Amino acid sequence: MIRDQIDQAMAIMEAAFDPAFGEAWNRRQLEDALLMPNTHLVMSETPIGSDDPNSAGFMLSRSVLDEEELLLIAVHPDARRKGIGKALVQRLFTDAATRQVKRVFLEMRDGNPAETLYRSLGFSPIGRRRGYYRSNRLSPIDAITFSRELA
Ligand SMILES: CC(C)(COP(=O)(O)OP(=O)(O)OC[C@H]1O[C@@H](n2cnc3c(N)ncnc32)[C@H](O)[C@@H]1OP(=O)(O)O)[C@@H](O)C(=O)NCCC(=O)NCCS
Repeated sequence: MIRDQIDQAMAIMEAAFDPAFGEAWNRRQLEDALLMPNTHLVMSETPIGSDDPNSAGFMLSRSVLDEEELLLIAVHPDARRKGIGKALVQRLFTDAATRQVKRVFLEMRDGNPAETLYRSLGFSPIGRRRGYYRSNRLSPIDAITFSRELA
């Protein structure tokens, strides 16, 4: 079951992230993260399409006491702008609340269009890590930390 989810998440990850930015994780990183306690992999209930029944998206988060970090979120390029990413983040808020989480945060590459999604869901920027994302093709890019309080 979890192996099947990791397979699907890796397929989405490889299709979703532009390799130029060094944001995607490899399989080893994902498997190692899932060995840690309180790490949650959630697959979208929506399939990629009628000819592909695999999940269209996934998210990975980790909760520590009353905080939760959204570590990864991705939606397959063939299934974008249909509300799947938004539904995943809203699911995170619901699930996190059941874990007594008070604040959700995430780190995003400066300039990632996902910022529009995060801001529309109530996230605000709280910090910047200079040159956090590095690849051998581009100059280092800052990471922006966003946070959102849960009611
Ligand atoms: C970010 C991502 C998960 C969004 O998934 P999605 O299912 O397409 O997002 P949604 O359809 O739920 O978007 C909801 C709203 O967010 C905003 N939004 C989402 N993607 C956007 C984009 N690329 N540009 C501008 N606004 C965007 C829009 O307001 C959108 O509503 P609209 O389509 O009615 O205008 C997807 O683009 C992705 O996988 N990107 C690559 C991986 C990545 O960068 N992940 C984030 C790492 S921090």
